[in-house]
Amino acid sequence: MRHILDLQDMSMEMWNGLYTTCCDIMHSPGYYVDAARGKVMASLFYEPSTRTNLSFQTAMLRLGGNVMGFSDPNLSSVSKGETLKDTIIMTSSYSDVIVMRNPKEGAAKAASLFSEVPVINAGDGGHLHPTQTLTDLTTIMRYRGSIDNMTVGFCGDLKNGRTVHSLIKSLLSFKNIVYYLISPKELVLPSYMRNLLIENGQKFYEVTDLEESLPELDVLYMTRIQRERFVDQLEYERLKGVYVLDAHKMQAAKKDMIVLHPLPRVDEISGELDDDPRSAYFEQARCGMYIRMALLLHVMKEGPMKPDHLAAMERHQLCHNDRCITKSERYLEPLTKNVHGTLCCAYCDKEIVL
Ligand code: NCD
Repeated sequence: MRHILDLQDMSMEMWNGLYTTCCDIMHSPGYYVDAARGKVMASLFYEPSTRTNLSFQTAMLRLGGNVMGFSDPNLSSVSKGETLKDTIIMTSSYSDVIVMRNPKEGAAKAASLFSEVPVINAGDGGHLHPTQTLTDLTTIMRYRGSIDNMTVGFCGDLKNGRTVHSLIKSLLSFKNIVYYLISPKELVLPSYMRNLLIENGQKFYEVTDLEESLPELDVLYMTRIQRERFVDQLEYERLKGVYVLDAHKMQAAKKDMIVLHPLPRVDEISGELDDDPRSAYFEQARCGMYIRMALLLHVMKEGPMKPDHLAAMERHQLCHNDRCITKSERYLEPLTKNVHGTLCCAYCDKEIVL
């Protein structure tokens, strides 16, 4: 995997390699202080971020590398109307790796078509967030020692929560996972994601009640309701605060269950839980920096390469997803892929409606 866009295709070998390096960095950080000496990371954040942006920057600095880029697109030529393509061609000629967050679904895939250096998807709209998934897997490994054989509850905004989509895609590669998908009816998992679970023979339950599911879970993955993805703000007002995990509810959970959250939290985890040994979310954020160090080393192993951007891609139908990058960057070729007989957009994964 040259670009890190979607971890669904990550091999077990790659995951084991990243995790081993991550543990080694945690154990012997001094050994890595010059590991990326002379390398430059371009950090292109078109959307707000605290953990992802800062942990990537710190990861690069702790490896002895340098960082350039923007965290507010209004201060770059993007505000003058520059296309994503031009920004990527230019920044890829300055850097050894590009880390990009963008509000459009499929934006990282689009960037990868024009970049000479690896592109890491740091979140593309409500679609995917693969490096958060590496953070989540690392945390689960550290608490449980294994990712196989567990019951995971995903709770909150499963429709717009990109961290949920990415983590579910990765969990398909592990053994014997049972999923509780806990959300209001309006915020259920997108149908392309539900189809993936079905096609991969996964056992899952779609429910609305957190308290009923809680005693079953080994891992509870809380998420916030994603206000910025709502077209109708009144609907957001109606749904926010729908799930609040507190000390009273936690009494029903297993003694060794762990609570994860990609953060930021709004009100879905009560502050009184921060000292509960089952609350793993701050440790999760810490793990994020180390696994990103391992990932940066992994992707920067090879030097720049001319993008072979349309090789082996099918070019067919236009995507009808309004949030797809192809809607705003009109020069992009419509690319499709066949997912178990269903024609999907190769950028945003959404089914192509003919
Ligand atoms: C998440 C994101 O940006 O998708 N945050 C993060 O990267 N740690 C979750 C969120 O914003 O709710």
